[in-house]
Order: sequence, then C-alpha cells, then structure tokens
Amino acid sequence: MATTMSPSIDYNELIFEDRIHGRLYRDPDIFEEEFTNIWYRSWVYVGHESEVPEPGDYRTKQIGRQPVIMVRDENGSVNLLLNRCPHRGNIVCQNERGNAHVFRCAYHGWSYSNRGDLLGATFVGAYGDSFNKGDYRLAPVPRVDSYRGLVFASMSDTGPTLAEHLGRVTDYLDAFIDFSPEGELEVRSGVQKARYNGNWKMMAENSLEGNYHGHFIHQFIFSLNRQRQGGSLDTNNLNNEESADKVIFLPGGHMVEDLAISPMPLADKDGESWKEYFHALENRFGTERAEFMMEYGAPLMFIFPNLVMIQSQIRVLQPVTTTETKVWYYPTLLKGVPQEVNTMRLRGHERSYGPGGFVSADDLEVCERNQLGMEAQVDEWLWLKRGLHRERVLKDGSTSGHGMDENNLRGFWRHYKKAMSGA
Ligand code: FES
Ligand SMILES: [Fe+2]
Repeated sequence: MATTMSPSIDYNELIFEDRIHGRLYRDPDIFEEEFTNIWYRSWVYVGHESEVPEPGDYRTKQIGRQPVIMVRDENGSVNLLLNRCPHRGNIVCQNERGNAHVFRCAYHGWSYSNRGDLLGATFVGAYGDSFNKGDYRLAPVPRVDSYRGLVFASMSDTGPTLAEHLGRVTDYLDAFIDFSPEGELEVRSGVQKARYNGNWKMMAENSLEGNYHGHFIHQFIFSLNRQRQGGSLDTNNLNNEESADKVIFLPGGHMVEDLAISPMPLADKDGESWKEYFHALENRFGTERAEFMMEYGAPLMFIFPNLVMIQSQIRVLQPVTTTETKVWYYPTLLKGVPQEVNTMRLRGHERSYGPGGFVSADDLEVCERNQLGMEAQVDEWLWLKRGLHRERVLKDGSTSGHGMDENNLRGFWRHYKKAMSGA
C-alpha cells in the first residue's frame, strides 16, 4: 500500500495562482515525491481492454516505475498483476505483448497462471512440507477499475473510487467514445513511441494548455489544413467571446478543451462510407446531434495524471527521470463503422502524430526547449496569468475560460499542489 509522507518541500512556496517556480520541473526530490503522492496514490491510466481481446492476451505496462502485466484470463477478466516473481523478484514477462496462459520466470523456473497463482516451483522438495503455493503469487495491483474500456489502477488500497476521481470528465469521455455507433473504441493499430528530454509535466501542460501555442508552433499544419479543406483546425476564433467557457478545468486534475477540431480531416464526406457512418450515428443520436458531431469533433482531454485524448488518439505519459519522459501515442478505431472510415481516422492520426507527423514533432521539440530554459536559475517564475481576470469559477471547483486562456494550467497546478501536499 502506498503511504503519504509528510512533505519535505513546501509547495506553497513554489505554486501560486498566477505563477509557478522552475524548480518544479528540475528538482529530483520533487520528482521522487511525485511517485509517493501521485503515481502510487492516484488512479493512473494503464491501458485499453481492447489491447487484450482474447484469453491469455497480455501487455506489459508501468504504473509509475512499477512493472505490471495487463492480462485477460480464461474467464474474460482483465487482471493487473505486478510483474515480479515472489521468489527473488525477477520480472516474469519480458515481452511488451503476447498471449500466455502461463508466465514462467526465467531465473529459477517458477510458473504462474495468468491470474497470478503459483502453478509450480522447481525442485520444490527442498522447501520441506510447509511449502504452501498460496503464499507465493504474482501480487495483484491493489485497485483496478475501468470506464468504457479504459483501464485504470491505483497502487493505494484506499482513496476515492475511480468514479469519484473521474467525476464530470466522464461527460467528455462519453462524447469522445460515442463517435463509435456501438459505443466502443478499439486500440489495435499499434503505437507511436516517443521520448523527450524534459519533465513529464511539460507534456501534460502542452497537451491541454488551451489553444495558445498552436498559432506559433503548429502554423504549418494549420495552413496545410486551410489549403486542403478551408478552415478545419483554424484557431483564429479561439480568443473571442464565442470561445468563452471552452477551456474547462475539472476537479480531480482533469483538463478539457471543448473546441471544434474535426475528427477526420481527410474524410470524403460525400463518399458512401461516410454516409453510412453518418446514418449509424443518426440512428443512435438523432439527426441534429449527428450533424453536430460530424462538424464539431470530439473534445480534447487530459485525465490526471497521465492520459491525454485528442482527436482520435490516446496519449500516455510515462515519467522516466526528472528530465526525461516517454510519450506513447495510440490511434483508436471506432467499433461499428465501415472500414474506410477507420482507415481515414488512422491516416489523419498519422499525419499529425505518426513518425512523420506534423503536430507531435513540434510539441516534443518545444517541451525539450522548455526544459532547457529551466536551467536558467535567476528569476525563476513562470507566469500563468492569461485570462485570470475573466476566469469563471463554479461551485464544484471547476473553472472555465476562453479558448486561449490559461485556466487549465492554473487548475492543474492547484490540483498538483493539493496532491503533493498530501491532501
Ligand atoms: S526469481 Fe523467479 S524463480 Fe527465482
Ligand atoms: Fe501542440
């Protein structure tokens, strides 16, 4: 069970409503405290159920630094087991993915079922009569729960439930997932893996800061889209009154941008497949809602501390060191749509986030440069004032602002301070 130590660092000195201190991205002591107070305490996104569709299918994952196996057993349940042999602690599964009904530890040959039970220890006679298999099993992650296929886990056996942690962000998750006429996403199209030399919080902020930086670092793809289809992803209107309340911070640390970003910018909307898809949505939600969905796209989300959902993508953040982060971009497909629609979705994802993508390359580069700036240690404050004067605060603690306001960042740091102060 994770325990919360009394904080050795006073976060009240580092985080204010309108500014934060550069040390938050640079100090290895703070990075270590994040494991105790965030990664091993909060709910953390682990994977999607569709990554392990068949009995025995598994994926190896990490919660913070801890290695886990996400595996579907013969009863259809998805288990999360610590990838650590109880004998002497070796990992029992080295592969990133596969299918196994038995995990056999390579070190001394003990074997385990995909529910974690010890099936056999080798040369077991040497343990005497008191050896009890039940004492040696792959430890289950203390709490596991899922929301519409998204699997979350908590290393703490106490604390808020997943439903409490997610709160109102489920409204936006529903809006994202409902683009499938069957109400299910599928994550089975590989993953784009990236790594940058910067703190994990750089990418959390970059992902949902409001649409401010897009005008500068993403200029190329914006103008490309304008040329090709006349205006999708055009952010010129995101600073005016129409964009009020479009950037929304929710209790639990979650950030939302409810902005119009077309879900499939390459789609031929007069094509037969597209029409078929539209009718499927129409049958489920009615014409007005289906038209709105097609025009508007899905909201963008950051679900604290490591899940980002943008356009058709699930993005997972994984801290490595204080100044190094892994980012995995999973394209998602929609269940119940013509193949061509999913192909379009995939091509759209690749164009922005694939190996030659125009968006992720910009963001990864800017996160690295941002980290370099953190080494300058004179006057170390970073400012979060955009839109502060017009931020709307609701009773439940959520806040909202215009499309380019920084209320999401202020909310993120408010939540971070609470978590790191052990509240
Ligand atoms: S460490 Fe696994 S069998 Fe010894
Ligand atoms: Fe960006």
